[in-house]
Amino acid sequence: MSDSLPNRVAEAAELDAADPLAHVRERFLLPAGVIYLDGNSLGALPAAVPDALHDAVHRQWGTDLIRSWNANDWWDAPARIGDRIGALLGAAPGQVICGDSTSVQIFNTIAGALRLRPGRTVVLADPDSFPTDLYLAESIAKLLGAEVRRVPVDALAEALLVAGDTVAVIAYNHVDYRSGELRDLPGLTAAAHAAGALALWDLCHSAGALPIDLDAYDVDLAVGCGYKYLSGGPGAPAFVYVAERHIAAFAPALTGWHGHANPFGMEAGYTPAPGIERARIGTPPLLSMLALEAALDAYEGVSMVAVRAKGLALTDLFIACVADLGLETLTPTEHALRGSQVAVRHPEPHAVMAALIDRGVIGDVRPPDVLRFGFNPLYIGYADVVESVRVLGDILETGAHRDARYAIRATVT
Ligand SMILES: Cc1ncc(COP(=O)(O)O)c(C=O)c1O
Repeated sequence: MSDSLPNRVAEAAELDAADPLAHVRERFLLPAGVIYLDGNSLGALPAAVPDALHDAVHRQWGTDLIRSWNANDWWDAPARIGDRIGALLGAAPGQVICGDSTSVQIFNTIAGALRLRPGRTVVLADPDSFPTDLYLAESIAKLLGAEVRRVPVDALAEALLVAGDTVAVIAYNHVDYRSGELRDLPGLTAAAHAAGALALWDLCHSAGALPIDLDAYDVDLAVGCGYKYLSGGPGAPAFVYVAERHIAAFAPALTGWHGHANPFGMEAGYTPAPGIERARIGTPPLLSMLALEAALDAYEGVSMVAVRAKGLALTDLFIACVADLGLETLTPTEHALRGSQVAVRHPEPHAVMAALIDRGVIGDVRPPDVLRFGFNPLYIGYADVVESVRVLGDILETGAHRDARYAIRATVT
């Protein structure tokens, strides 16, 4: 246990007492005895969700039945919820659709980007990107006769200068899922534009955690998860953003009937809807979508600037406490380069995380040696931070993670 622990406990108590977002924690149903540092992977359950789902199942589905498409406005849910997500991303209404998975949205938007830049066949992507992004980029590139070049983010600006007029789109993660590094979205978007290319951002690890200002920075396309910081629930639908200036020419790969201009005309040929609705595909998972809609109530009256300030203060404190233990973090200490999660290196990450989870501190593990901790400022407090590191220090000091039961690796880490 570190000698500085009493000071850290006092520091955390002061920060919690002055926390302008402290009251927001009541908008979540957190189990007793748990410090939940995995809201960057699956957000905690928002208090508004159980009643909303009860209503969706019993009244809307059970009683109103198919009339709900009109009576309960199921039809407009993807655009309605898209606009609410858009408000958190700095996107004016009419540019975000909620639906499908991030993987599907990546496939669709890379196709859309290649078609928006005819004659250009190169997609620049991050070799360290979340794997699904690369798998899908390569699949759509193969289908459309394009090429994916894996360029580390630090070399991206230079690569744009060199590859210039061949690049259709840069497809990067806003926050690195493993290290927690925040990328320079404004600078790299501008660099893409200077080369005549588009910028597509995967916002999975930033949506709901920090202000993004998509419109202000002229981002072209973006996708992201509903189940991480937005806390929409397991398998919650994702979202896609298409900047207003691109919508009329945006031609996604998956042209399903919900994206048709006249879906109930049942026409034999496809005509895309004029607005962002063209990014819809097929029938959405309404129960999950309505759960996500209710989850967004947790953001009512909450400023994303305040969320960001608290996210940085929480991760500052966590990084300082972890340094007290002599552990190495992969996450940049510079605020401009940090999302809302921290990666701590340890040679036995699976055993250490299993021991932590057994003691009520929940994070996760990413290969090869990363203990990953996410801090959702809506429901994590400063005392949680200090207590979680106290438990970590105790495990490492006593060697509790060497217990044989922690050697068995779970399927999902
Ligand atoms: C950056 C990033 N993109 C995409 C995904 C996954 O997308 P999907 O919801 O389709 O599984 C994740 C999941 O953790 C992610 O971190």
